[in-house]
Amino acid sequence: MKFGYFDDEAREYVITEPKTPYPWINYLGNEEFFGLVSNTAGGYCFYKDAKFRRLTRYRFNNVPMDVGGRYYYIKDGDTVWNPGWKPTQTDLDKYECRHGLSYSKFIGEKDGVSSELTCFVPKGTNAEVHKLAIENVSDVQKSLKLFSFIEWCLWNGMSDMENFQRNLSCGEVEIEDSVIYHKTEYKERRDHFAFFSVNAPINGFDTDRENFIGLYNGFENPQVVEAGMPRNSVAHGWSPIASHYIEVDLAPGEKRELVFILGYIENAQEEKWESKGVINKTKAKAMIANFDTTEKVDAALAEIATDWKRLLGVYQVSTGDEKIDRMVNIWNPYQCMVTFNMSRSASFFESGIGRGMGFRDSNQDLIGFVHQVPERARQRIIDIASTQFEDGSAYHQYQPLTKRGNADIGGDFNDDPLWLILSVSAYIKETGDWSILDESVPYDNDASKATDLFGHLTRSFNFTVNNLGPHGLPLIGRADWNDCLNLNCFSSDPNESFQTTNNKMGRTAESLMIAGQFVLYGREYVELCKRRGVDTAEAEKQIDAMIEAVKNYGWDGDWFLRAYDYYGKPVGSKENEEAQIFIESQGFCTMAEIGKEEGLCEKALDSVAERLACEHGIVLNNPAFTKYVIEYGEISTYPAGYKENAGIFCHNNPWVIIGETKLGRGDKALDYWKRIAPAFREEKSELHKMEPYVYSQMIAGKDAFKPGEAKNSWLTGTAAWNWAAISQDILGIKPGYDGLIIDPCVPKDWNKYKVTREYRGAIYNITIKNPSGVCKGVSSLAVNGEPVQGNVVPIQAADSVNEVDVVLGGKS
Ligand code: BGC
Ligand code: NOJ
Repeated sequence: MKFGYFDDEAREYVITEPKTPYPWINYLGNEEFFGLVSNTAGGYCFYKDAKFRRLTRYRFNNVPMDVGGRYYYIKDGDTVWNPGWKPTQTDLDKYECRHGLSYSKFIGEKDGVSSELTCFVPKGTNAEVHKLAIENVSDVQKSLKLFSFIEWCLWNGMSDMENFQRNLSCGEVEIEDSVIYHKTEYKERRDHFAFFSVNAPINGFDTDRENFIGLYNGFENPQVVEAGMPRNSVAHGWSPIASHYIEVDLAPGEKRELVFILGYIENAQEEKWESKGVINKTKAKAMIANFDTTEKVDAALAEIATDWKRLLGVYQVSTGDEKIDRMVNIWNPYQCMVTFNMSRSASFFESGIGRGMGFRDSNQDLIGFVHQVPERARQRIIDIASTQFEDGSAYHQYQPLTKRGNADIGGDFNDDPLWLILSVSAYIKETGDWSILDESVPYDNDASKATDLFGHLTRSFNFTVNNLGPHGLPLIGRADWNDCLNLNCFSSDPNESFQTTNNKMGRTAESLMIAGQFVLYGREYVELCKRRGVDTAEAEKQIDAMIEAVKNYGWDGDWFLRAYDYYGKPVGSKENEEAQIFIESQGFCTMAEIGKEEGLCEKALDSVAERLACEHGIVLNNPAFTKYVIEYGEISTYPAGYKENAGIFCHNNPWVIIGETKLGRGDKALDYWKRIAPAFREEKSELHKMEPYVYSQMIAGKDAFKPGEAKNSWLTGTAAWNWAAISQDILGIKPGYDGLIIDPCVPKDWNKYKVTREYRGAIYNITIKNPSGVCKGVSSLAVNGEPVQGNVVPIQAADSVNEVDVVLGGKS
């Protein structure tokens, strides 16, 4: 069953039934100000950091869920309704939520009144703009009462939820003309305030929640709305809100448009006040003036659309399969941009107070957006690398507001350093900007400890070399990519987190996933060294030794082992009772092509097909754990089939997909890709539960109670990795150091497709033909009619438009 449809032309997902199986959300904002908005206008917004600068309040764990957001109540006689259906849930004659690229539109119609609410964050602006159009589509006069509503968060998303003895006494507001200002803590240490404005005179307002809603009412029936009369309340402590009251009289056919702005302003210390106790509102007024007409708002909206057209234009495919095309051309790159902005901080599963920007996460996310915003990718790399330690290891996360690393979610994840090589090499391949390697970058944000970025990569590489275990394989530390494989943890205390608790200081537990990662990204490091004229003999020796160690100690007969535990016993082996095979080492060792000539990769991936693959995707391990294994940690805490315990962890499916392309098995690769691609799961929306336009972190695996049910949508490395898998390894258009590498691996029955790729300032219109029905292998390549040897399209002049003709298979 579906709850909407893709409007590819408009680049929107149109939800036509408000009762989706879960709130289906969208993100507003692409720079420093962001909003999360559900299909019923729920959610919240923040400036830069969802923990420290949260403008509006949001309650997770609420019942019913997803209440609180940008609410507009329209009172028409005795009927009260909302353009986004919630919170009144009054039946609408028409409901549509159009989630587009960085905006959401809510179209509601009731008893001859139609409304359209458009929410977005204009470029260069720290505000959400809400354009509300109300039209009388009946043939009688309408006297409507409109109430806006948002609830302020007392800035710190964490303390807002816990420190009530203080919170309920400190709220402060100011009201001037049609603008409600939120100035809690502005008088002392804060240099920022928020406001909610409307570009029309108001007939009243409320700023105190209990006055507006009433202590015994809810969002669905605020007492002020029921009475049809505002109280003009001024909040002193308790819970400050902002509500405008506007009388809207409409003749038949008449339409009124209003612009509401929910903005964030910073004032320098010496400019904070206009007069004693009165905020200096100069900047707020300037911001309001920027959007005081619908024309200005429409222009700002059009600017965002133009930006997206340009960003998505970098890679456009036409395969003839609309689902593939909409994933590649619209939704996958869109999700990649959102993960770039949010890392794992703020979604409907990430509370915005738990996690900042992850070291490993942000490096991996980069491969999904570097082609869209290369300059911002450059800055991101510098920010991430600046938190690295001198021995090459890393803080696991940093806070976006301060850009400082912290240990709040643990440390000593031994995969972390190697991801920096992935992101930096991806950046250079995309841009050709070798100068990044010469940038001086601090360690632990201490400028007195700095080397060039290349030095950081050397330390990343050497970190593994310096931390090998008894088999010459990399020590796992607290965990590798799989946060839940805690081989040194031995936790028996339910009050401690697996991520932060003290580890045993063992130097035995080793990871085959990091081994594959080291070989793969180590080779990349060697390539960078060569191009810089740095001697590579030692590094190559280390990589060769790692390959040998994997072959000698990391092969279980039919697949790669996953690890050695604290006692030196194999993990992910036929010897084990449960979890005999894991996905991560199969993915990484096959991507690194370890033992490919000897047939190990083929065998490993056949085992994946046999043991791990199912209808909904590839599970993480098999059989699932059914009991807690203290020497394995968090992985064995999850019920079978969920999350890291045999869930379909969508992030690592593309590792297998890419592994399949290394073997040239294009049918298998695309088949796996389709199993988890959200557009292909749209028909199963009731089961899948999450948005059909973005990936979820996890789909319940075959051992789960409800196989196929997804969770944790949006903020997942799945977006970037699937982008890499489909755009580079399946469709085969891959940025290289010397040009665009053409190396498709597609199903045999594909005979033709086209890709337009903007690359280093030039445009490449690439036509790929497959006359002899092969999966892989370029037999001829021509650029602008001229044959080119090999499969690399040399870099063409900036601004040139080039025709690239590729033929796969035997010579034709
Ligand atoms: C989850 C992991 C996640 C980690 C974050 C664990 O509970 O299972 O997926 O990476 O927490 O710190
Ligand atoms: C989610 C985390 O954000 C990521 O860093 C980790 O690799 C995966 N979970 C797997 O545990």
